[in-house]
Amino acid sequence: MAGKLTFTMIKPDAVENNHIGAILQKINEAGFRIKAMKYTRLTKETAGQFYAIHSERGFFNDLVTFMSSGPIVAAILEKDNAVADFRELIGATDPTKAAPGTIRAMFAKSIDANAMHGSDSDENAEIEGNFFFSKLEQF
Ligand code: CMP
Repeated sequence: MAGKLTFTMIKPDAVENNHIGAILQKINEAGFRIKAMKYTRLTKETAGQFYAIHSERGFFNDLVTFMSSGPIVAAILEKDNAVADFRELIGATDPTKAAPGTIRAMFAKSIDANAMHGSDSDENAEIEGNFFFSKLEQF
């Protein structure tokens, strides 16, 4: 059965361009509740740990450099069918392929600076949420 939680980051490009408020509004309007939230910044080391699953990919160094280039907002979100519904809300990884009205179509500029991260499975949602938040920070 699909889980009720997913994990997201508002990435450095969307934070830099002052899109935090608009993005959180879209998340709430889509029916997600915020269970934990943190404004923070990754180092190259912690970005590399978070994205370790991609460490063999050609884009890994650019990804780590970009994700540590400025502050991000990390959050755990709750909704029925959270992972799939959130990925639908944010749209395709490459914003040129994202459906109109999705967050990436509205706010992302490129596949690197693509405004949002969303977990791709229930298992990764738990791992990624726990990467940023202790159980005491998850309400
Ligand atoms: P995200 O959902 O955060 O997961 C990994 C990130 O790597 C992805 O969003 C993109 O921003 C970035 N990336 C860069 N190039 C690629 C690519 N060719 N395929 C997938 N992800 C990529």
